[in-house]
Amino acid sequence: MNSYIDKVKAINEKRETPPLAHVHNYGCQLNVTDGEKLKGILFRMGYGFTEHPEEADLVIFNTCAVRENAEERVFGNLGFLKHYKDRNREMIICVSGCMTEQSAVVDKIKSSYKYVDIVFGTNAFDRFPQFVYEVLNGRKHFYDEAGPGKDVSEGNEQIRSSTFKASVPIMYGCNNFCTYCIVPYVRGRERSRQPEAIISEVTKLVNEGYREIMLLGQNVNSYGNDLADGIKFPELLRRINALEGEFIIRFMSSHPKDAGKDLIDAMAECDKVGKFLHLPVQSGSNSVLERMNRKYTAEKYLEIIDYAKSRNAGFSFSTDILIGFPNETDEEFEDTLEIIRKVRYSNIYSFIYSKRTGTKAALMEDETPYSAKQERMQRLLELQREITTEDYRKYIGKTLDVLVDGPGKNGEGTLTGKSSEYIIVNFAGDASLTGRFVKVKITGARNWAVEGELV
Ligand code: 5AD
Ligand code: SF4
Repeated sequence: MNSYIDKVKAINEKRETPPLAHVHNYGCQLNVTDGEKLKGILFRMGYGFTEHPEEADLVIFNTCAVRENAEERVFGNLGFLKHYKDRNREMIICVSGCMTEQSAVVDKIKSSYKYVDIVFGTNAFDRFPQFVYEVLNGRKHFYDEAGPGKDVSEGNEQIRSSTFKASVPIMYGCNNFCTYCIVPYVRGRERSRQPEAIISEVTKLVNEGYREIMLLGQNVNSYGNDLADGIKFPELLRRINALEGEFIIRFMSSHPKDAGKDLIDAMAECDKVGKFLHLPVQSGSNSVLERMNRKYTAEKYLEIIDYAKSRNAGFSFSTDILIGFPNETDEEFEDTLEIIRKVRYSNIYSFIYSKRTGTKAALMEDETPYSAKQERMQRLLELQREITTEDYRKYIGKTLDVLVDGPGKNGEGTLTGKSSEYIIVNFAGDASLTGRFVKVKITGARNWAVEGELV
């Protein structure tokens, strides 16, 4: 790969002004991490960066395939790029990410978006410099159709958007085949990174001053299952926790079928691990969970949550909920509201089911009208608002450890950050505290956040 990086760099260095690249990410944190790796490669090829696609010489749309609306946005925005390319014929347009692992998408780009120069998947980063080189040398199109990844690529350094929060992928792919989900088809099977590679990356980040390390995987609880003598996720947490330095460890996502007491124990016992568990339940109905192929019941899920609560370590919880899975009945939806009442999440990410061609659920007839799904969404959000408002009051009078994100919404002199429990905390303070840990005494709670005073 390096030879092509150097070749592109040599071409770019001959230009009067360095060329600019624009990378737009459409998806989850893993997608954003991929975008940061692509920026690292672009930088090594001599590109600078711009936030404005209209002034870019190379644009990458780094796409997401999880829901239809993300795909529609990509196609809509590709339409805009056509106008920019009409003005700058040299512009190189690239589409990468999960959408490009679906042949129907590649076919659509080939036939209707002929001005797209390069289409490449999440598995083709190492070959990306070659694609750019060939297009710069007059090749019209490059459509990479190698399919989802089979190994883990190391060595593509990220250009990170934050100077104090870093995402570190620990594994790629997913083996679970939940019936609604496209991820296993576009990202391939689970592959774990070697623990040594992860630990040395985290060590380096902490030494560089990063204060939040977010470990990423589609299902972090199956970390290590594919390694010959690999360690499991709770042990990985403990080893990272033992590293020196002042930082907080977070992770996403866990699958309830694999989340056990060993995970909760590690979280409770490791002082650097944020006391926040994102555990996607998707539905509170056992019949829906079965149709989703989730491999746990609501009772089993609650057992993990109850165990975490019983450790009295101050855990807070969040979850993903899928509303309107094919033929979800009112009663089944009520079960979802019931589990929300039992767990009392601090936050919920809810999505209306989106049919993904190629998945099993896409073959299921669905009688439920979309308007009913929207109504369910409204009810769920109302319930969650009540719970959050009530729940956040328990922090009043307490002092929380907060990592400062930066200036708050309420103007000069206000700051916002997140506590160990991943609660948004607003308070007054100087912008120079950005990226630092502070203690904040909580005085009030409102609108999905708490507020307080610097201690
Ligand atoms: N439609 C809507 N939401 C989906 N998710 C996954 N697949 C779909 C789909 N087809 C949601 C799940 C998952 C989150 C990342 O995205 O809730 O946990
Ligand atoms: Fe999709 Fe299920 Fe894998 Fe999560 S665990 S990525 S929802 S298939």
